[in-house]
Amino acid sequence: MFKQLKEDVQAVFSRDPAARNTLEVLMTYPGIHALIMHRMAHELWNKDFKVSARTISAISRFATGIEIHPGAKIGRRFFIDHGMGVVIGETAEIGNDVTLYHGVTLGGITWNKGKRHPTLEDGVIVGAGAKILGPFTVGKNAKIGSNTVVTKAVPSGVTAVGSPARYIYKDTQTQPQDEEQHRRDYAKRIGFVQYATVADHSDPVLEGMRILLDRLEQNEKRMTTLCQRLSLLDPTYKKQPQDHPPLSQEELKILEDVRRECESQNQQSKA
Ligand SMILES: CC(C)(COP(=O)(O)OP(=O)(O)OC[C@H]1O[C@@H](n2cnc3c(N)ncnc32)[C@H](O)[C@@H]1OP(=O)(O)O)[C@@H](O)C(=O)NCCC(=O)NCCS
Repeated sequence: MFKQLKEDVQAVFSRDPAARNTLEVLMTYPGIHALIMHRMAHELWNKDFKVSARTISAISRFATGIEIHPGAKIGRRFFIDHGMGVVIGETAEIGNDVTLYHGVTLGGITWNKGKRHPTLEDGVIVGAGAKILGPFTVGKNAKIGSNTVVTKAVPSGVTAVGSPARYIYKDTQTQPQDEEQHRRDYAKRIGFVQYATVADHSDPVLEGMRILLDRLEQNEKRMTTLCQRLSLLDPTYKKQPQDHPPLSQEELKILEDVRRECESQNQQSKA
C-alpha cells in the first residue's frame, strides 16, 4: 500500500509543475486524499462491506469534492488535478497513468445495472469539465479536451475536442505543399472559402470535404473533356439523328447551357 502511495505521489510530481515536495502534496492535494480513501473503500467494497465502503466514499466526497464510487476500478499512478466536481461511476475502469482534471464526469446514460460507465485505458488525459458518458472504451494515450462531451468509443492516441467530440491530430506527414495549394485555389475558385483551414490539423469531416473537393474537380474535368469531344462532333448540338425523336426546346436549352459552361471552362483552363 505504501509502495502504491509513493507511486501516486511521484505521479503528481511528474504531472503538476506546481508540486514542490512530498509533504505538501500529501497535505494539500485533494486528488491524493480522494485516491487514498478510494483505495480503502474499494478494498472494503470487494470484501462485501458495502455500507462501510460507501461511507468512506461519502466522507471523501465531503472532504475533497471528488466523488468516486467504491466499485470503480482504478489503476496505478492515477492523478486527479484540482479535483473539485469529479464524478467517477461504479462500473468505471481506469488504467495506469491516467490524469483527470476538475469537473470530469465518467458517467452512465442508463439506469440499467451492469457496465454503464466508461473504461479509460493507460495514459489517457481528460481535460477540465469533460464528460465521458457510456460503457465504451477510451483508447490508450487518448486526450480528451476540456469541456468535451464524449458518448462513443475513442481510438487510442487521438485527441478529442468539442461537443459532440470530434478528433483532431497534428498531421506530421502533411500534404505536399503544391497539392495543398492547388486544392485551396480550386476551393476559392468555386467559392468554397470555408475550406481554407490550416493544413496541419485535420478531422474526419475536413478529410471528407477534401475528398469531395478532389472528386468534384475530377468530375468537372471529365465533363469538360466530354463537352469538348461532343462539340467537335456537333458544335450546336442541333444535328439530330433521323431515328431519334427530335430534341425538345427544354433539352436544347440545357445543351446550350452546357456548351456555354464548357466554353467558359475552356477559357479558364487556357488562362
Ligand atoms: C485537447 C487539448 C489536449 C489539445 O491540445 P493540442 O493538441 O495542443 O491542440 P491545439 O491547442 O493546437 O488545438 C488544436 C485545435 O483544437 C481546438 N481545441 C483545442 N482544445 C479544445 C477544446 N477543449 N474544445 C474545443 N476545441 C479545442 C483548437 O481551438 C484548435 O482548433 P483549430 O485547429 O480550429 O484552430 C487541449 O486543448 C486541452 O483541452 N487540454 C486540457 C487542459 C486542461 O483541462 N487543463 C486544466 C488545467 S487546470
